[in-house]
Amino acid sequence: MTTSAYDLPGVATASTVASAELNRRARAVMPGGNSRTAVYSSPYPIYVRYGHGARVVDVDGTERLDFLNNSTALIHGHAHPTIVRAVAEAAARGTSFGMPTETEVAFAEALTARNETFEHVRFTSTGTEAVMMAVQAARAHTLRPKLAKIAGAYHGAYDATAINNDGSGSLITHATLGIPAGVSDNTVIIPFNDPEGALEVLGRHAGELAAILIDPLPWRIGLVPASAEYLAALRGFCDEHDVVLISDEVGSFRIGMGGAIAEFGYAADLTVLGKVIAGGMPIGAVTGRRDVMAVFDPSAGSPPLPHSGSYNANPVSMSAGLASLALLTSDEMDRINGLGADVRDRMRQILADHTPGGWTVNGNGSLFRVLGPNATGADGRPVNAVNLLSRALLRHGVHIGDSGLGCVSTAMEPDDVDAFARAFTAAADDVRACLAQ
Ligand SMILES: Cc1ncc(COP(=O)(O)O)c(C=O)c1O
Repeated sequence: MTTSAYDLPGVATASTVASAELNRRARAVMPGGNSRTAVYSSPYPIYVRYGHGARVVDVDGTERLDFLNNSTALIHGHAHPTIVRAVAEAAARGTSFGMPTETEVAFAEALTARNETFEHVRFTSTGTEAVMMAVQAARAHTLRPKLAKIAGAYHGAYDATAINNDGSGSLITHATLGIPAGVSDNTVIIPFNDPEGALEVLGRHAGELAAILIDPLPWRIGLVPASAEYLAALRGFCDEHDVVLISDEVGSFRIGMGGAIAEFGYAADLTVLGKVIAGGMPIGAVTGRRDVMAVFDPSAGSPPLPHSGSYNANPVSMSAGLASLALLTSDEMDRINGLGADVRDRMRQILADHTPGGWTVNGNGSLFRVLGPNATGADGRPVNAVNLLSRALLRHGVHIGDSGLGCVSTAMEPDDVDAFARAFTAAADDVRACLAQ
């Protein structure tokens, strides 16, 4: 049983009555009242009315600093005027067509300019679809069936990657109910940051592997960066056995102008993008080597890998993406990465000063994740300490993920980091009071 902020001493549940009522209605028409597992919170999530800049206002009228930014997608915060204008102007021209648009070409040009390994690009509506298409492209290119993925890493809701994605790090191929054995039989699980262990597993499947899928900064494994030795070992294996190395940067592209491959200094054959590249509109992209991407090319007749989608390269998302990338200058990237480092340092210091210990703060660039100790509540029951902390933060006016995930946006200034630190101190005190000493 977990404790939530709703149970914290002194929390007036009356302050979330409108959310409770919306959740009552939602439960009548959706399983658990929910369409997206990540936004469910017990006993009910807080419903948002609107966001502006660095802040969100809930349906009860409470304003909070938003350090979750839609699971790190909103690198420019909420309703950035330039992005809103781009979206409004694009929508006024028509929201989707059965024809390509100039914005698709312009956005492809802007994105491929960010990293020289992004030779060709193809757009989807979500990161999940982009991962799916990257894996299928690797299979079509190599004519092999198997995919290797890191134990515990999350890559979206696609069958082949929704296997062993719970962050546990177990090497057992455990699939979600609903994923057939044929899929899990073709998914190879490798240990994270263990070059010898990974090579040993990969070696057993060498001739059958189409791709190795990695997230160099996997948030479900605590935003621990992949080591240089590990990345070099995987790259070496791919070169030796003609396997496609896919870097999933749906979350981690935001750490530098050229994404994680540029920051970590390794070469991927395909890179998957999403989230920040469209400033909050639905998006996904597969990019990388021209010869691998050629499997999508329909210009010489039927392509080896036909890829359709009514909303691929949607002009509203493309326009938002152009605006979002233009705002993401190298100065802004440096500025939010500096704020991110400050947030992480301050969290570490506050946790050291205000709690009994056992906490870790990881992250890179503008991203952070807090990991907590195995804790017991004052009533003797086990407690999810990070969940407790995120709930206490809500009480003090800050929103981060229930799992301790968060990020800084370009809408934030040093004052916002100061406000975050004050709330974090108060939340750490609440957590200490709720835990057995
Ligand atoms: C590393 C990674 N890959 C893929 C996805 C899936 O992207 P989307 O939620 O746009 O489907 C996510 C989403 O959080 C992610 O973090």
